[in-house]
Amino acid sequence: KKSNPAILIIFGGTGDLSKRKIIPALYNLFLEDRLPDKFAIIGTSRGKLTDEKYRTVLLNGINEFSRRGKAQKEDWAKFSANITYESADIKDPVSYKKFASNIEALKSEWKVDASLLYYCAVSPDLFCTIAENISQSKIENNKDTTRIIIEKPFGRDLESAKSLNKKLLTIFDEKQIYRIDHYLGKEVVQNIMAFRFANAIMEPLWNRNHIEHVQISVTEQIGVEDRGNYFDNAGILRDMIQNHLLQLLCIIAMEPPINFNADLVRDRKVEVLKAMRKIVPGMIDTIAVRGQYGPGWVEGKEVPGYREEKDVNPASNTETYAAMKFYVDNWRWQGVPFYLRTGKRLFKSASHITIQFKEVPHNMFNNQERNIPKQNRLIISIQPDMAISFQLESKTPGLEMTLNTVDMIFDYAGKTRVDAPEAYETLLLDVISGDQTLFMRADQVEIAWEVIMPVLDYWENTKMANFPNYPADSWGPENAEALIAKDGYHWFNLP
Ligand code: BG6
Repeated sequence: KKSNPAILIIFGGTGDLSKRKIIPALYNLFLEDRLPDKFAIIGTSRGKLTDEKYRTVLLNGINEFSRRGKAQKEDWAKFSANITYESADIKDPVSYKKFASNIEALKSEWKVDASLLYYCAVSPDLFCTIAENISQSKIENNKDTTRIIIEKPFGRDLESAKSLNKKLLTIFDEKQIYRIDHYLGKEVVQNIMAFRFANAIMEPLWNRNHIEHVQISVTEQIGVEDRGNYFDNAGILRDMIQNHLLQLLCIIAMEPPINFNADLVRDRKVEVLKAMRKIVPGMIDTIAVRGQYGPGWVEGKEVPGYREEKDVNPASNTETYAAMKFYVDNWRWQGVPFYLRTGKRLFKSASHITIQFKEVPHNMFNNQERNIPKQNRLIISIQPDMAISFQLESKTPGLEMTLNTVDMIFDYAGKTRVDAPEAYETLLLDVISGDQTLFMRADQVEIAWEVIMPVLDYWENTKMANFPNYPADSWGPENAEALIAKDGYHWFNLP
């Protein structure tokens, strides 16, 4: 069933996010006939552009970044007829009158009511300004049909996240606010819920009795690219752990919700964050390791160190790598460590979750050549390969009873990144249809900040004399290995 007619106003309409993600996602939804029959996009930014010129900018974005490759002429002509551009200063309340009259014009042309979606694809210091101007200029804000989409970062610490929530909630109801964490829209990440809760064999194993530890790893080969300005003020703890990695942890650790209702699902996630063991200052060096990349070589090309990147302070103390150990203090997870690591300029780009199960209680293969059964692992590979696999022990075919590790794999064969919808496609469709399940609720964001605040404060206030401490194209700083090795484990890398 198609959603009601909708008008999407994109603040930051010519920005990177619009060109790379938002418009290609909407275009793909259009190709799959998933957009409402009446759907209009109004892009806005300060530059002076005609509608025609704006459409060309977006078309170039699709041609360069869409998973489906270049747009077909006829499809694009149909889709782009719904796109207009409005040059405006979003700090100026008067601009919003222009949007209001555009909206009115569309509605009277369509002769129906329409949902109104405000997308804040701008720098975070403008989120409040936009919300305030929507409120002051009395542009449409119907509690049932108006929604606002907020990109990350949502605040830069607990305090600022709280005050942003407070401000937004004076203007919008929680049910109107869609805070994006694009990891939640990824295909394999969504599948974790199906995998855990649609298979009867998982639940009995999914707890401290059978699981020894969990690893969540999001490594990236790229450096900070042209985002030095933002990143040097953020660091990887804010950029990745506070949001994406903690959300993955929540999906692995949450109790089964009663159903897919947005609030019930998010309640279960919030409970995980509430159960996370409080980090106290004295323990930080034993549970958290940070790193910063130095120069090196990647695929035959020399690359600069972090401190030499554009818009980065040459004496920067900002971390580009973090590894941490967490506990979830509840019945299900007591004593099971969750190791998280993420970093830039690492050896490989890969996001995966490894659940390592306990040893067999008794080894009966004593006299055999390969006689110690390895521990089973469940590996959830999110990207670039999309797969869920079990590592099981098996008899090596032959006359002897020798063991061998084999993979039982569900791979999305054929469903590569080109076929599977991108996170933004799923998330935008959810905004259009009014489903908040995969979006961050106010309390969720705040508790995630609360969890990491002690580490953020400590890292900001203690300088790292040995930065940079890992070369480009490596697996990160050496003491990240020590963090997990002291518990008897090692970081698991995909082949
Ligand atoms: C973003 C971070 O949220 O996620 C970036 O700001 C990071 O620094 C990106 O590169 C990773 O997303 P993905 O989808 O490429 O894994």
